[in-house]
Amino acid sequence: MTTATDTSGRKLKVALIGPGRISTAHLDAVRATSDIAELVAIAGVAEEEARIRSLVERFSAQRAVIGAETIFADREIDAVILTVPNHLHRPLAVHALASGKHVLVEKPLATSVADSDAMIEAARQAGRVLMVGQCRRFFAGAQMAKARIAELGSPLNITSIVGVYTLEPKASWWKSAEQAGGLVFGLNAAHLIDTAVWLIGARPVRVYADTMRFRSVWEGEDEASFIVSFDDGSSLTGRLSESMNPPQNEAWIIGPNGMMRLVDDRNLWLNGEQIHAEPITAYLDGDVAFRAQFREFANAIRGGRVPAASGAEVRPVSQIIEGARISAAERRAVEIT
Ligand SMILES: NC(=O)c1ccc[n+]([C@@H]2O[C@H](COP(=O)([O-])OP(=O)(O)OC[C@H]3O[C@@H](n4cnc5c(N)ncnc54)[C@H](O)[C@@H]3O)[C@@H](O)[C@H]2O)c1
Repeated sequence: MTTATDTSGRKLKVALIGPGRISTAHLDAVRATSDIAELVAIAGVAEEEARIRSLVERFSAQRAVIGAETIFADREIDAVILTVPNHLHRPLAVHALASGKHVLVEKPLATSVADSDAMIEAARQAGRVLMVGQCRRFFAGAQMAKARIAELGSPLNITSIVGVYTLEPKASWWKSAEQAGGLVFGLNAAHLIDTAVWLIGARPVRVYADTMRFRSVWEGEDEASFIVSFDDGSSLTGRLSESMNPPQNEAWIIGPNGMMRLVDDRNLWLNGEQIHAEPITAYLDGDVAFRAQFREFANAIRGGRVPAASGAEVRPVSQIIEGARISAAERRAVEIT
């Protein structure tokens, strides 16, 4: 018999909670995965009912819902995509998991290690999938870098920059350091750090960070520099900026036997030769990475396996971000245990 926990023989019934800026990329991804998943509901807060209804129509969802609790109580729904502000990742993910839903939560996993751990534990107790939306791993350039990283030897020395040009908060929660998890650390660090940790494949042991704030429109840091040491001797130097015009997303990955240059996770050079090229497009309305990410989530649920970028796998990203924020505040290196 097919039950809500056994989705191997039927389409996965999915709801999205948080119909804001990034929701459309996920909704496009579910629609593109209609062979194995279907979009049952889109949920948000009462003030945005018109937006929810227009997304329901645009992406052919079955219903518009006000309030996440209605989704959690719905026994028909197998899985939820959480595209809510960062500080709501923990409460909504824990509630969803305890209600028996599989969860794909947007990055960052959470705004603290304690919150990350609560989510990972909730998934373990419920026996459900918890995957983090580290979408940038799913671009072909990043996948190819991962497939060929061993050619560089080890340890690795990575320098990575993610800079955007954003002078005003795009959502009210960006103004609050508590809700965003800082600012540039809460918004963009998870992308840069996840890719580096994934490529290095070792455990981070120490972080030192320095931050600045150019603009008073938010409480958090809008410039950050940091160095992370790993237990295999690898090193990551990261630079994050909200004031980089034009925006940049580039990593130089150097090993004893060679070097890669990865631009926007979509263009890859190995020892000076470009080995993957693809156009760089905006992804808010959907792209190949979001589609591959959602297919991985659905396939992991159907196959009863741990997904790529599971909560437990991504936990070190939370450790580095939290350590970096402490380091910048206390002006000292922070050990990661
Ligand atoms: N992967 C990426 O590249 C990427 C890009 C942008 C944002 N994000 C992440 O996605 C998440 C959402 O970011 P955004 O830019 O779309 O923010 P947003 O503010 O535009 O959207 C958040 C949505 O959640 C809704 N919401 C708030 N509280 C809710 C609740 N209790 N129940 C239901 N809905 C609720 C809001 O009304 C809004 O519709 C954040 O975690 C952010 O870090 C990831």
